[in-house]
Amino acid sequence: MASYNLFLLPGDGIGPEIMVELKAILNWFGAAGIASFETESGLVGGAAYDAHGKAISESDMALAQAADSVIFGAVGGPKWADIPYDVRPEAGLLRLRKDLGLFANLRPAICYPALADASALKRELVEGLDILIARELTGGVYFGEPKEIVTLENGEKRAVDTQVYTTHEIERIARVAFDLARTRGGKVHSAEKHNVMKSGVLWKQVVTEVGKGYADVTLEHILADNCAMQLVRRPKQFDVIVCDNLFGDILSDVASMLTGSLGMLPSASLGAPDPVTGKHKSMYEPVHGSAPDIAGKGLANPIAMIGSFAMALRYSLGQIEAADLLDKAIANVLASGLRTKDIAAAGQNAVGTKEMGAAIIKELGSLAR
Ligand code: IPM
Ligand code: MG
Repeated sequence: MASYNLFLLPGDGIGPEIMVELKAILNWFGAAGIASFETESGLVGGAAYDAHGKAISESDMALAQAADSVIFGAVGGPKWADIPYDVRPEAGLLRLRKDLGLFANLRPAICYPALADASALKRELVEGLDILIARELTGGVYFGEPKEIVTLENGEKRAVDTQVYTTHEIERIARVAFDLARTRGGKVHSAEKHNVMKSGVLWKQVVTEVGKGYADVTLEHILADNCAMQLVRRPKQFDVIVCDNLFGDILSDVASMLTGSLGMLPSASLGAPDPVTGKHKSMYEPVHGSAPDIAGKGLANPIAMIGSFAMALRYSLGQIEAADLLDKAIANVLASGLRTKDIAAAGQNAVGTKEMGAAIIKELGSLAR
């Protein structure tokens, strides 16, 4: 049986509760003889700050570098609202992305038929929805320099963030988007602001150039603001959307609500394959945040976390059958009517984190039999 080494970073808020459910899934795969997972756990975000004054320690960064995959919960919360910017919880997440070179962030937004009524949009607009956002994750305004607040001579302050992209950075995320589109609906929308931003002009040029190598994939350029509007107007026109770091942050939150709940969305963050081993670094995380309002209450939906692990099986560990099995178990449990609070209809009974995790494991058992 193949064995993998995972580094678990539960983080803050609901992160630890949903990670408990994921661990039970990992154990199930081992016990079923499908694949075994060795895990180590570390601290990130506010939890790491409380323990040692940094958003992630050097030793945990080393474990993240060494793992087959990093599995990340969530970071942040009101408790850490006023700590210095450099050690704020989000700095841990951003350092992981940057230092592991995770430039390609894949955020699928799939509307399960069973959940179409939980969407903020009408059923007919979202039923069968299957969008994949390919977000550039290590460049743009998140990391561009200068990034500072300076005091001017007149005492006024001036804040600067820098949106910067090079050809190479755009090319590699574009290739990821086109390669994925080939395995899906065959369509790429490139969302940028080429009407206002120089980085948007270059983005459009480079994506167009890359697209010439993919005659079987249709490419459309769309202004990022129009893309946000179209996502809520007629979302099923999209297949793969490729965009920069900041637009991807915003558009993926919009896309998530089409599916019914932010609690449903998994994500994968991938690095470039190593030229020698062919292996890539990776981190898997639910798109939802730490949800401090429900943390510790056992109410959180573990599906985005478990679905993120299904993506790890598929995209990094080469366990496609196991990934299909886990995705099917999630879909079946939803089809059976089980709902956590975030996806329950008004007046419908909701179960907690543990019940949802246990139901998915039970379904895995039935499917594997
Ligand atoms: C996300 C989050 C992060 C981001 C935050 C927590 C830094 O919103 O992964 O979408 O802005 O990228
Ligand atoms: Mg976000």
